[in-house]
Amino acid sequence: MSAALPSLQELISLRSMRALVTGAAAGIGQAIAYRLAEAGANLVLLDVQEEALQSAAEALRKRFGVQVLTARVDLTRKEEIDAFWSHLEGPVPDILVNNAGIFPFEKFENLSEGLYRRVLQVNLDAVLWMCQHFVRRRGKQGGVVVNVASIEALLPFMDGLVHYGVSKAGVVALTRGLAREYAHKGFRFNVVVPGGVLTRGFRGVLKEVLRGRLRFLLAGRRFLQRLPARRFAHPDEVARAVLFLCSDMATYVHGALLPVDGGFLSA
Ligand SMILES: NC(=O)c1ccc[n+]([C@@H]2O[C@H](COP(=O)([O-])OP(=O)(O)OC[C@H]3O[C@@H](n4cnc5c(N)ncnc54)[C@H](O)[C@@H]3O)[C@@H](O)[C@H]2O)c1
Repeated sequence: MSAALPSLQELISLRSMRALVTGAAAGIGQAIAYRLAEAGANLVLLDVQEEALQSAAEALRKRFGVQVLTARVDLTRKEEIDAFWSHLEGPVPDILVNNAGIFPFEKFENLSEGLYRRVLQVNLDAVLWMCQHFVRRRGKQGGVVVNVASIEALLPFMDGLVHYGVSKAGVVALTRGLAREYAHKGFRFNVVVPGGVLTRGFRGVLKEVLRGRLRFLLAGRRFLQRLPARRFAHPDEVARAVLFLCSDMATYVHGALLPVDGGFLSA
């Protein structure tokens, strides 16, 4: 029987694939780009931070010899998303990772329409439009999508993140809806659910703690006390889960929520 099975190396390999990753200039997105490139995928990387994106791309070309195309796309703007897809050169990506996201804290009473819209635009609307373009362009070829949500979608924990939780709960619903509708058309949609991951974005939260804001301090303490792993994640620990879902290791995984949260949701 084992002779007929593909090797682990073949299953995890993304050679001859092209993968598109949003928010790839920093944090979890950069870590995902690194692992997908290591697995052999050519990349298309999107971000608003052009310089950081260029240097991340150059490092990946040098290290793994893969092709890396970069594009500055502001995901709050649907017209930029549309323009990106209509000008995209080369083969349509086989894999889409919707990672870009923002998590500005604001008390619910003080939440402005502008901030609410911006969070929804980046965290949810852009994911939806990217998925729509992907499905349209891939057509009968099918493809693989991994979206990045958050534990806040399932278990709101921090004060000041209601709007964020709403956006990420939307990402979960979107992923599951598309998984149901498109699995038989050759698409796989899954969502990773990270807990606390040590990125620059997350360090912004920790800075608030250091500034002595009592509510952050108490929430940070409660968070760690509840966390079975008792530590935050390295971005690469999320990237490895994303690589698994992108690869043929996960050919029968559809519409799954994969927590990468040190056990937070299970405690
Ligand atoms: N870090 C955590 O603890 C944590 C926990 C749960 C979920 N997440 C999610 O993981 C994802 C990545 O988070 P991170 O911590 O790496 O964040 P980060 O702030 O370190 O990086 C996010 C990247 O997205 C890009 N981006 C932001 N707005 C954009 C826009 N309008 N258009 C294009 N690109 C844009 C940024 O420039 C940046 O490169 C997000 O979706 C976030 O919600 C993070």
